[in-house]
Amino acid sequence: VRAAAAAGEVPDMNKRNIMNLILLGGVGAPASGMLGAYALFFVPKSAGGSGGGQVAKDALGNDVKSNAWLATHGKGDHSLVQGLKGDPTYLVVTAEGKVENYGINAVCTHLGCVVPWVAAENKFKCPCHGSQYDSTGKKIRGPAPLSLALAHANVDDADNVLLSAWTETDFRTGEKPWWK
Ligand code: FES
Repeated sequence: VRAAAAAGEVPDMNKRNIMNLILLGGVGAPASGMLGAYALFFVPKSAGGSGGGQVAKDALGNDVKSNAWLATHGKGDHSLVQGLKGDPTYLVVTAEGKVENYGINAVCTHLGCVVPWVAAENKFKCPCHGSQYDSTGKKIRGPAPLSLALAHANVDDADNVLLSAWTETDFRTGEKPWWK
């Protein structure tokens, strides 16, 4: 454990692997499936149009459709999709049963582990060094220095969930976004 911490950083590839594990539901996935999902991260992003954002992708690389997502993700749900720049990003389901208008980047602001959502405690808890974030991704316990990054999430006319850069004030902290 000490050696891992002392390594000082979590390599990008490792981050992606962790995400695959989470998206595919654990270590039981066959190697071929792992490779398939792994390869997805190197597929060029489809054109998102100008300013419209980028369609969130599920674990298989398919476009995330709002209605289908909400049919399988209940109120208060926080589940991962592939977001901007391929970063694992949580979509949130509101108390009204809609896709929340922001997504939460799952990459821990400490050293880059993918942070799991712990529904029973209504917060994110990083397994690497214990950082915690509330249900909006706001930091509530270090060593993470910052809250999780935000992205806008909107549903377009074709029912796609679109993610786009969040450049405005961080509504959780009242500060400028550190991730810009
Ligand atoms: Fe260190 Fe998350 S990577 S607490």
